[in-house]
Amino acid sequence: MNHILSVAPMLDWTDKHCRYLHRLISEDAVLYSEMVTTPAILQGDTQKYIGYNQQEHPVVLQLGGSDATDLAKSCVIAQQYGYDEVNLNVGCPSDRVQKGRFGACLMNEPSLVVECLKSMQQAVDIAITVKCRIGVDNNDSFDNLQSFVGKIAHSGVKTIIIHARKALLKGLSPKQNRSIPPLNYDYVYKIKALFPELTIVINGGVNTITEAQQHLKQVDGVMLGRAIWNNPWLLHDLQSSLIAASNQSRDKVLQGYMKYCQNQIQKGVKLHWLLPPVLNLYHGIAGNKKWKSYLVTQAPKRVDDISLFEEAREFIEL
Ligand SMILES: Cc1cc2nc3c(=O)[nH]c(=O)nc-3n(C[C@H](O)[C@H](O)[C@H](O)COP(=O)(O)O)c2cc1C
Repeated sequence: MNHILSVAPMLDWTDKHCRYLHRLISEDAVLYSEMVTTPAILQGDTQKYIGYNQQEHPVVLQLGGSDATDLAKSCVIAQQYGYDEVNLNVGCPSDRVQKGRFGACLMNEPSLVVECLKSMQQAVDIAITVKCRIGVDNNDSFDNLQSFVGKIAHSGVKTIIIHARKALLKGLSPKQNRSIPPLNYDYVYKIKALFPELTIVINGGVNTITEAQQHLKQVDGVMLGRAIWNNPWLLHDLQSSLIAASNQSRDKVLQGYMKYCQNQIQKGVKLHWLLPPVLNLYHGIAGNKKWKSYLVTQAPKRVDDISLFEEAREFIEL
């Protein structure tokens, strides 16, 4: 799979509706699910947690967990569902995740990570990848990161996504942990230089095409999260500059997404759930604020009426 461009996993944001929209915008970007924990898959309503649309490929399921057997079982299910890859979350710093002994705190337990990765890889044929930070708390030296990556590579994993800031496990909320610890791209570049055989994807604070192009001189891929949520059309521009020209337009995307909404509504999904990903589609264009506020205020009154998208579109001066 080509990892040159991807949209970051984002809990509560990159659900299947959001990914469907992103796929309409970019043919090739790799799309990630929100993090799903192994108990949710093994004991919960599996279809609800990991069901997706076939159009989303290439699509990666991100798992949260640290029990090698449960992770392996979850990978088998992911493979049965047709996911292209499974990614292990070694970067989330939330308290809930720390109590479950997974996410970023696993950076302090490389042997456990290796045990999990081996068991996951033995269970399935699809690739297993890792998303981690550059460090956690005081465990933040480059030597530590190099040793961690070396162990992961030894387990057979070939693709690592590195969020270029450390996580502080005490005292910062997950949101603060995405902005307060400073970005250190050099660590990620140095990892690529030391492990040229690995596919290294850089993540964190990438906001423009120029920045993405700069990173791609040093690493194999860029992963963007918030910048794409705030301006989904950036994904189109990235696709066009980094991969292949696209003749998609915002209005064609809107038409495609409206058809999708119609279909989802027939399956019982409320319009309310389908709105968030598309609210920023016209980011930066005159009338964007009115488009958004029309959608947000009208949606509760028009639970299953997608014509409100066309009404809101009238405000956009494009
Ligand atoms: C709302 C939100 C939810 C997130 N949820 C996840 C998650 O489920 N798994 C994960 O690995 N990272 C998660 N992240 C972190 C992003 O994947 C990414 O690493 C981070 O936002 C930095 O990239 P950015 O600066 O391009 O946004 C989340 C970020 C946001 C903003």
